Amino acid sequence: MEFQNILTHVDGHVATIRLNRPKVLNALNGQTMDELCAALDAFEADPQVRVVVLTGDERAFAAGADIGEFAGVTPVGMLEGPRGKRWDRIRAFPKPLIAAVSGYCLGGGCELAMACDLIVASETARFGQPEINLGILPGAGGTQRLPRAVGKHRAMEMILTGCHITAQQAYEWGLVNRVVPPEALMDEAYALAREIASKAPVAVRLAKAAVLRSMDTPLDVGLDYERRLFAIAFGTEDKEEGVRAFLEKRKPVFQGR
Ligand code: CAA
Repeated sequence: MEFQNILTHVDGHVATIRLNRPKVLNALNGQTMDELCAALDAFEADPQVRVVVLTGDERAFAAGADIGEFAGVTPVGMLEGPRGKRWDRIRAFPKPLIAAVSGYCLGGGCELAMACDLIVASETARFGQPEINLGILPGAGGTQRLPRAVGKHRAMEMILTGCHITAQQAYEWGLVNRVVPPEALMDEAYALAREIASKAPVAVRLAKAAVLRSMDTPLDVGLDYERRLFAIAFGTEDKEEGVRAFLEKRKPVFQGR
């Protein structure tokens, strides 16, 4: 795939999307978001791809929406433009997404990392929702996902003051899965990706859907949903293989069916 603002590649069952606008700290302009969505479309359709790693460069995962595109935008333009659909597309991506974060991870960048399913952070990572300093507020999930990740009071502090937090703080607050030295970031993210990619792909997608549903449903509704997905997993060939391999004391070979 040929893009201007992102780089992509696939290695085995793991795809990588690298945000690539280093001069503006990977600010997420419309074109970058469109390219990201197009790459996700392609990786969703590709049965070889089981997990996607999303990353930036050393200095920035992404420093937020491209502020240059905000000037003169009206409320109607904001509501009716393509923005919402792009973020909906990321939210609907059914395969696991791992954010590998180094450097600035701010505003829409932090929201993009939080839209991923796991976050691996370099010690250099800095997370924040600084929109308040621009006279606006987070608009791509920050006010909803951040409190779910770190709790109301910590989210309020980040969103109302616009402060940045360190990778270690983010780890202690439950925002990231792991913090590693900068040189180990991609190895760690890929190790996690390969581990997940070795599991039964249909079960992985069902499990992702079930966990995401737990974020916004009452317990009884979520338990019913999980029970149905659990039953669906019993219709897969991979379930037969997984159970047989266990009983035969060998490693399963999953096909994604
Ligand atoms: N949009 C557009 N350009 C950006 C940008 C952004 N979000 N963040 C950085 N840049 C640009 C800078 O303008 C600068 O460009 P020039 O070299 O042409 O001047 C270049 O990237 C490098 O940035 P700095 O010189 O500012 O680098 P620094 O190390 O001094 O500071 C920073 C780094 C603290 C991240 C600072 O750039 C900054 O505060 N950026 C803005 C962060 C921000 O407010 N993000 C939220 C955006 S709104 C949003 O995301 C809404 C939403 O919910 C979707």
